[in-house]
Amino acid sequence: MAFTDLREFLDAAVRTLGEGEVRKIDGASWDSEIGCVTEMMAEHGGPILLFDRITGYPAGFRVVSNFLMTPQRHALALGISPDLPRLELLRAWKERSKQLKPIPPTKVKDGPVTRNVMEGSAIDIERFPAPQWHKQDGGRYIGTGHMVITRDPDTGWVNMGTYRACIKSKDRLTLWMIEDRHGREMA
Ligand SMILES: Cc1cc2nc3c(=O)[nH]c(=O)nc-3n(C[C@H](O)[C@H](O)[C@H](O)COP(=O)(O)O)c2cc1C
Repeated sequence: MAFTDLREFLDAAVRTLGEGEVRKIDGASWDSEIGCVTEMMAEHGGPILLFDRITGYPAGFRVVSNFLMTPQRHALALGISPDLPRLELLRAWKERSKQLKPIPPTKVKDGPVTRNVMEGSAIDIERFPAPQWHKQDGGRYIGTGHMVITRDPDTGWVNMGTYRACIKSKDRLTLWMIEDRHGREMA
């Protein structure tokens, strides 16, 4: 099964893994509360957490966490039976990953990703309830399990990596790119 977005994945998690798989939480604070509950639930193999009505933010500006925190959720995301024991899951993924074929991109005029665009002086990343995940984090990390796409200015080579992104101001982010990462080399 392929998912076109996170909402579909969350629906499938409830359908396939059970009603208790997604837990909705209203009224949590971005300031350590979301991070703390996420960490506690992660340690105990708890449900996917869907935070809404985050303190100081309008309803619908949601944060989801722990969505890949169990082997079953990984299996679901990768299209493998979540009923397999852990080691079998790993073997199934090893087999499947050998058969993966990259799909060439198709250019289209628009898509869901273009529905909400902020440009120039309208950019305001502080509109989003990015959590302070841990007390000693240097700020609020809006990007933790996302994809950063970079292009090498000299060769044109395009790379993708996950590098944590911290909000510094309404139009400025820092990326934590470890030394041997391609993104860092390009920078
Ligand atoms: C959830 C997640 C978070 C990650 N966070 C970081 C990060 O903050 N900084 C970093 O350098 N690598 C991070 N990584 C690892 C890199 O994304 C990974 O090594 C990737 O292969 C880097 O691509 P590159 O080698 O082409 O630069 C993370 C990986 C995952 C799965």
